[in-house]
Amino acid sequence: MTRILGISGSLRRDSHNTSLLRAAAEAAGPDVELELYEGLKEIPPFDEDDDVHPRPPSVARLNEAIKRTDAVLFSTPEYNSSIPGQLKNAIDWVSRPVATNVLRNKPVAVVGASTGGFGAVWAQAELRKVLAALGARVLDIELPVPHAHTRFENGGLTDDEIRARLEETIESLADEVRERQEQKAAV
Ligand SMILES: Cc1cc2nc3c(=O)[nH]c(=O)nc-3n(C[C@H](O)[C@H](O)[C@H](O)COP(=O)(O)O)c2cc1C
Repeated sequence: MTRILGISGSLRRDSHNTSLLRAAAEAAGPDVELELYEGLKEIPPFDEDDDVHPRPPSVARLNEAIKRTDAVLFSTPEYNSSIPGQLKNAIDWVSRPVATNVLRNKPVAVVGASTGGFGAVWAQAELRKVLAALGARVLDIELPVPHAHTRFENGGLTDDEIRARLEETIESLADEVRERQEQKAAV
């Protein structure tokens, strides 16, 4: 069983990005368990003075959840052509200490939904850049969901092409996890 943690960059109750992750969880095959992370809003603003042990409980929880999972699937909105502040803030917390941060060598993929015509491509690109800088194994995929408000009904995905792309993304993540496990076993 491959465990994937889904992290939505939106805190909004009816978020299209959170709906996209729910659709991904439904699209996942029987060998994959995709669990959504629910605690991003509680993460305090990063302050290096507070980056001491024990860390704030909300930060410790996120760190532990990433540590325990095999892979992470991020779904990010685009705010002013970039990553939402709270998502970046959370990543800044878990990026420390940088040499042993929990995202290092972790297979990750990024998808994104926006109500605009480009599907959060800039935010996805920036998020991939940040994750790569932390040493994550960032899948070279992009899954833009433009005009997101037209693709969900009562939170359910109505676009079969996007569902198929989500399935592919999850399979690629699971393949990356297997490859990594095989490499580790060979050492
Ligand atoms: C502060 C803010 C900035 C935004 N900037 C962009 C943007 O640069 N590009 C874009 O396509 N949509 C932008 N949007 C619209 C979002 O794509 C839209 O609100 C989307 O539904 C957010 O994702 P969510 O449904 O997961 O909350 C912005 C929305 C907000 C609130």
